[in-house]
Amino acid sequence: MNILSRSCLAACAVFVLAASTAHAEPEPTALVDQQHCMFCHTRDAPFLAPSFQQIAERYRNVPDAQFMLEHKLRLGGKAHWGDMAMPLPADRGGPLSAEDAHTLVQWVLSQ
Ligand code: HEC
Repeated sequence: MNILSRSCLAACAVFVLAASTAHAEPEPTALVDQQHCMFCHTRDAPFLAPSFQQIAERYRNVPDAQFMLEHKLRLGGKAHWGDMAMPLPADRGGPLSAEDAHTLVQWVLSQ
């Protein structure tokens, strides 16, 4: 293989990588910190809670998921994954506005 086709391969690999992550929303870090999301969740490994990738996978084809999860994030609801439900915003770090819940759920579902 000559040097030209090698560099094309490298460039193409970078392009594919960039394309496959292009849909991930940027992490709303301040919100995530304030609500301690990463205290229980990680992006890709189930820990005290399902990983954000598992959650995104589960709801990928569920039309009302965004709305349902925003509601649940703000007001709570019954557990969908096990026995332990998520604590309410007041116990996570403070009240959560509808707008912030929307941002967070959009980010989680883009993982
Ligand atoms: C104290 C631990 C804890 C914290 C902090 C926490 N979670 Fe969770 N989360 C859980 C647990 C446990 C579940 C599984 C609950 C269930 O079975 O529905 C869960 C489930 C979820 C789900 C899926 C809910 C469903 O109905 O399938 C989403 C989305 C989610 N969390 C997002 C977040 C976000 C965003 C934050 C930060 C704002 C956050 N979590 C903070 C423990 C936590």
